[in-house]
Amino acid sequence: MSKINVLFVCLGNICRSPLAEAIFKAKVKERGLENDIHTDSCGTSNYHIGGAPDSRTIANALTNGVTIDHAGRQLTVDDLDDFDYILAMDASNHTNIFKLPNAGIHGHKIHMMRFFDTENGDVPDPYYGTAADFQQVFDILNRSTGRFLDHLKKEHNLRG
Ligand code: 4NP
Repeated sequence: MSKINVLFVCLGNICRSPLAEAIFKAKVKERGLENDIHTDSCGTSNYHIGGAPDSRTIANALTNGVTIDHAGRQLTVDDLDDFDYILAMDASNHTNIFKLPNAGIHGHKIHMMRFFDTENGDVPDPYYGTAADFQQVFDILNRSTGRFLDHLKKEHNLRG
């Protein structure tokens, strides 16, 4: 069976989406599903290509027991072909993903991250925020990615 490919997308690929990727990967590993699910993240902008995640995101994740390992990259046309689930952190990212020329035929793969949360809406951009804002983002992503994994397990009959 080929893997289920999951891509988390934000603007800079240094705060929200690499954190979503790291939290989700930890949950996938915890459930022994590494052979079933491949995970990556990227940004709609070219601001931080090749860059490390934001130091505040790394520090916040560590205090929550999660290690982040990612180099920034920009969303490409090929990503829409290659990934099965493309999860936008906010409405602006969602709009920008749909600007890619092949988004129409892949539209069914593109979702808002918080479609899977208990409440819909944006994962707020913490870039100009405080430590409390980074923790709020962690809590939202921890809940949303957990519920998304439950969805995948049901949808694809995964054990774990
Ligand atoms: P992210 O946060 O989209 O969650 O990675 C941001 C990171 C950088 C910038 C904006 C948002 N920036 O303007 O450089």
